[in-house]
Amino acid sequence: MSGRAMAGGVSPAQRRQIEGIRVAYPQWQGIVDEIERCQEWAAVAAEPPCLLVVGPTGAGKSTLVGSYAREHPAVLTETGTTYPVVTATIPSPATIKSLAMVLLAALGDPRATSGTVGSMTYRLTRYFRDCQVELLILDEVQHFRDRDSRRVLENASNWLKTLIKETGVACVLVGLQGEAEDVLLPFGWDERRPETVREFVSFLALVERALPLAEQPALAEMGMARRLHGASGGVMAYLMELVRGATYLALAEGRATLDGEVLGRAFAQRLASVRRGTANPFHDAGTGQGDAGAAPEPSHADRVGRA
Ligand SMILES: Nc1ncnc2c1ncn2[C@@H]1O[C@H](COP(=O)(O)OP(=O)(O)OP(=O)(O)O)[C@@H](O)[C@H]1O
Ligand SMILES: [Mg+2]
Repeated sequence: MSGRAMAGGVSPAQRRQIEGIRVAYPQWQGIVDEIERCQEWAAVAAEPPCLLVVGPTGAGKSTLVGSYAREHPAVLTETGTTYPVVTATIPSPATIKSLAMVLLAALGDPRATSGTVGSMTYRLTRYFRDCQVELLILDEVQHFRDRDSRRVLENASNWLKTLIKETGVACVLVGLQGEAEDVLLPFGWDERRPETVREFVSFLALVERALPLAEQPALAEMGMARRLHGASGGVMAYLMELVRGATYLALAEGRATLDGEVLGRAFAQRLASVRRGTANPFHDAGTGQGDAGAAPEPSHADRVGRA
């Protein structure tokens, strides 16, 4: 059977058109905007910003980030090539070496496969700086978990975390819903396993003492801790974003301490977009005010950062 016969009267141009259909649905643009904000923010943020995009298989996640990367191509300059956006797929199984290899290859290193882990890491850090990388997009984040043992591959994920911290690039992690999230969560919350609750509560007890407020807030109190966990998904960066945001609000308004109402507004301001699908957990706690614009749109309500 010839290629033409298989095509059944469809010309290559028509086929390209059909295969290349890209519809920018409303959520698409929303997520693209968030990725853009993440990339711009990296230059000024104290902590490299990080966005998690999860969705079921076939949701269009890889297509979305692929198209984002194409819109931010490598640029040839007089002194070399800059790569504002670097995309790679986490290899399976994810090891430091396999990860370093795909990243070096994505940056166009002709010797991507050679060297020790140390020299590869060194080369990567230099490329990140020399190529002025602003954003790293990593697909298939669930590969950070071993397929059989289900254990998180800590070597590879910690190595990546260090790389991101040291280079200060923004990061978008893409993966399967229900698998990608729990790879990343540092704090669990399972009331049948009291040690998970204790760990989170002890952390909050330290945070509440460290805030420059006239009156120490009761963050580690059980009901409050449960809400803070719900709001942040147990992710440190989200938790601190929320607590810092609420503290700024309280200070600006001359409040002595934090309560559910201020935290609710900080959630709406700082986390509602990245924690889409998570209803504001402070709304039933507070005074019922400050509601405007806080709740996620109904179409977004089913999942976090769906792609
Ligand atoms: N905006 C879009 N317009 C039209 N078609 C799209 C769009 N986004 C994705 N598709 C199509 O949907 C299919 C699945 O997309 P994609 O591979 O990006 O999903 P995915 O979420 O990455 O899935 P997986 O988790 O299995 O990797 C592809 O055939 C792709 O061409
Ligand atoms: Mg994909």
